[in-house]
Amino acid sequence: MKRRILPLLISSTLAMPAAMAADAGAVLSPVMGEKASVAVWKDDKAKMDAFITDLMAKMTLDEKIGQLDLQSGIMANTGSLVNYEYEDWVAEGKVGSIFNNFTYERAYPLQKRAVEESRLGIPIIIGHDIIHGHKTIFPQSLGEVASWDLEVARLGAEIAAKEATADGIMWTFAPMADLVRDPRWGRVSEAPGEDVYLATKMSVARVQGFQGDDLASPTTMAATAKHFVGYGLSQGGRDYHSTDISEHELWTQQMPPFKAMVDAGVATFMTSFNDLNGIPASGSKYLLTDVLRDQWGFEGFVVTDYTAVNELVPHGYARDDKHAAEIAFNAGADMDMVGKSYMDYMAELVEEGKVSMEKIDHSVRLILEMKWRLGLFEDPYRYFDKERADRDILTAENLELARDAARKSAVLLKNDNAALPLALDDINSIALIGPLADNKKDMIGNWAGAGDRRKQPVSLKEGLEARLGDNVTINYAQGATYAHLHAEGDTSPHVGIRSVGRDVIGKPAHAKMIKEAVKAAKKSDVIVLAIGEEQRMSGEAASRVEITLPGTQRELMEELKKLGKPMVGVLFSGRPNDLSWEHQNLDAILHAWYPGTSGGHAISDLLVGDFSPSGKLPMTFPRSVGQIPLYYNMKNTGRPYNAENPNQRQEHYKSRYDDSPNSPLYAFGHGLSYADFQYGEVKLSSDHLKMDGELTVSVDVTNAGKHAGEEVVQLYTRQMVGSVTRPVQELKGFQKVNFAAGETKTITFTLTAEDLSFYRADMSWGAEAGDFQVMVGTASDNVQRLPFKLVD
Ligand code: BGC
Repeated sequence: MKRRILPLLISSTLAMPAAMAADAGAVLSPVMGEKASVAVWKDDKAKMDAFITDLMAKMTLDEKIGQLDLQSGIMANTGSLVNYEYEDWVAEGKVGSIFNNFTYERAYPLQKRAVEESRLGIPIIIGHDIIHGHKTIFPQSLGEVASWDLEVARLGAEIAAKEATADGIMWTFAPMADLVRDPRWGRVSEAPGEDVYLATKMSVARVQGFQGDDLASPTTMAATAKHFVGYGLSQGGRDYHSTDISEHELWTQQMPPFKAMVDAGVATFMTSFNDLNGIPASGSKYLLTDVLRDQWGFEGFVVTDYTAVNELVPHGYARDDKHAAEIAFNAGADMDMVGKSYMDYMAELVEEGKVSMEKIDHSVRLILEMKWRLGLFEDPYRYFDKERADRDILTAENLELARDAARKSAVLLKNDNAALPLALDDINSIALIGPLADNKKDMIGNWAGAGDRRKQPVSLKEGLEARLGDNVTINYAQGATYAHLHAEGDTSPHVGIRSVGRDVIGKPAHAKMIKEAVKAAKKSDVIVLAIGEEQRMSGEAASRVEITLPGTQRELMEELKKLGKPMVGVLFSGRPNDLSWEHQNLDAILHAWYPGTSGGHAISDLLVGDFSPSGKLPMTFPRSVGQIPLYYNMKNTGRPYNAENPNQRQEHYKSRYDDSPNSPLYAFGHGLSYADFQYGEVKLSSDHLKMDGELTVSVDVTNAGKHAGEEVVQLYTRQMVGSVTRPVQELKGFQKVNFAAGETKTITFTLTAEDLSFYRADMSWGAEAGDFQVMVGTASDNVQRLPFKLVD
């Protein structure tokens, strides 16, 4: 007999106003000094506890173990293992949560089987990777961070949650908060960039967007802080590779976004694949229990990454899957994603006394609590409303918001002779050339939820045609491919290994493409190049050793350059590329990232000057792959190189390369505008800051140009001497401000000792008195500096 125990016992609403939510348990983050936990569900805690205690009293050990298991459906997957029996396992109560199985048609019947066929009728959580949109795809995550606009990030996540929940998904595996310094790593496209301050702010904004004030609302979803921790520094930029990060670096750079997400009430955490300083993160008691639970007070549950428990075996940290299950579970990994080692061995481990019943109960309780907080015990079908998908997905409003986000994310890297915006009064024809010009599939980037690649995305060609109508002729040619030119007898690694970026194109086909492109260019006033990478070249398992533009794109550009016409590059890519050639040879470069479903419209808005670009780089762009890792907040070293010293002989035995400048091609925080922002003199309210005081930093910024635009005013500091060596620059604040043409605004920042705090030599958190510099400017390499002292 099937029973439905759930809805039944609970009637009260789970929501409470945000203002009431700063509950008694809130603590100050030792990291960013922000207020903690918006634990809106806590008003119901007594009722929830009683319900779960009662439910757990009815559960067998096997049913409890079932709650610890997460299986993948067949709608997507990122690992080689998929267990096709998952639907029956749900009905048998052997699996408590599912991902990659959504839409009303697929998810509702599965929930029904859980509720009606399993003995206790416990509903399942349905998850999916909702990263930068569900079906209305927003800009690729790294691009979205380039907006330096927290509302863009929050709203993007809110719309993603609204659409995903309309398709029966109530749990996302985002945001990814791994700090990154290596553009070879494909997953930089999903990352929040290289700076800890920006990454923290963006990650928290996304959690707030996904989760809203009330997890039980049918339009919000549980978020996941991932990957905990260190994955972003995979050695050599090779995915899944080891990480070795000093304690100081780990706590100063990698931990803060995760701590801040705990404080913001993130529902779940995901372990990371890498081994960190010798211990695989998915089996690290230090990370998952000592830090996350005991020190930070995280109250949600921890899920492993895809088969990460089993991977403790090849890591050489567990003898077999059973041993791996014992290690990971005892470390604090509550839920096993796909790997089945909890399902297969947990009962034995309990019987043998290797895993305690208390530990099982603790993890099961956390998972059931999340089901409660999602409102599933009140109504297991609250995320399955047949009409909502039509009503809430791909709405005109969502598409417009995605267009706005894409406009705000694009970064104008170079703009010589005001090549952009296109001077429409003087232009009769545009040659639109490149593999990303008449291209829909790549516009939405990687990790693009359930985004359609064939019809929905607006290509750049479509966007320009819609904007320009009959006024300007567009002469289109593809011109190049991502494939490499095949030379006779070519035995290079490009040939025959696998397809992504390693396809080859024969000479005749290449020659034909070039010919068409040259023909299109010859009859046009300006050349707009749509260049970059195929979306599959970044993302998971998409590391590259070369980060120049792939395939025959260079050959194409070299041919077009001979024509002597203005050339504007629109770059589509999920990583910082080596753009040294493009920088030298193109008049302007606009980095569009992967702009999303409305991308073609958004980029056209910028190209024709309806809006001004306002994005700033969240990651350093190196001059060559040889400079990697290259990031703005590096240490000074004992032998800092001074490129400006006129006596270069003195600079020989300094920290530098013989064959390259140290400086990047484009620095962190760089991004131009059609407006002309002039900075006045930076002023400090005092030449010193007291430990319990405030220092005001202000500057007048004027838009001296003819275009309106937004500027990201950036504030950095440097501690000149510390108990450990300190970075040459650290971002401490930013403001994105709108300026009309001719407008001046005074921008003010307030610095406190908390802003200057860090993990000191003894690993205590706090500031150190002494000499500092404050820097204000338009990019990390374009600032004014003033000295001040921090005094006791
Ligand atoms: C990725 C995670 C992702 C998971 C589920 C893994 O391969 O590393 O980020 O959430 O798959 O799709």
